Amino acid sequence: MNLGATIIKSRRSVRSYTEAGLSDEIIRDALDCAHLAPTAMNIQPWLFGVVTSRDLLSKIAGITDHGSFISEAAACFTVFGEKEAKYYLEDCCAATMNIIICLQGYGVGTCWVAGDKKEYAPLICELLHTPEKYSLVSLIPAGYPKKIEIPKKKAVKEISFFDEWSEQGRE
Ligand SMILES: Cc1cc2nc3c(=O)[nH]c(=O)nc-3n(C[C@H](O)[C@H](O)[C@H](O)COP(=O)(O)O)c2cc1C
Repeated sequence: MNLGATIIKSRRSVRSYTEAGLSDEIIRDALDCAHLAPTAMNIQPWLFGVVTSRDLLSKIAGITDHGSFISEAAACFTVFGEKEAKYYLEDCCAATMNIIICLQGYGVGTCWVAGDKKEYAPLICELLHTPEKYSLVSLIPAGYPKKIEIPKKKAVKEISFFDEWSEQGRE
């Protein structure tokens, strides 16, 4: 198994963190990986924030509906997309995964918390004073794992096919 696959397969969403902070080097490397994600026509229609202020982390946690654990995170990466760019959602999701996988490589746990499609998305933009042309795509709380859950995944053979799909290959 190659290094990329090993890191990807070791990742699970982490919603409980120790009190240890993230080094500047790790935060900067995660941002570096974010900005190297593929984007349609290489437009790079994004803006990345890093929240480490305890006060802001608690406020973000309170605004989300399923992100109360953000208040415990060492940092929360925030990914914003340029609303006018046709593929901003896909582009920003690619960047989100780059951040998550980069951090996993350092042993830092994360959990993708929804931003796009959530009614609270504009409230996060307001809180962080982001320019009007951006909307929130994702929140990525990060920290060293205190507890790791291992959710079940569908079997690969149930959700994949080679060449043409057929009912027969489904048993
Ligand atoms: C678009 C998206 C939105 C998500 N939003 C939340 C969320 O708001 N709160 C949360 O606790 N987890 C959230 N998750 C994490 C999923 O619950 C998690 O990925 C899923 O249960 C599978 O677990 P795993 O990440 O450990 O494989 C989100 C994941 C994605 C991709």
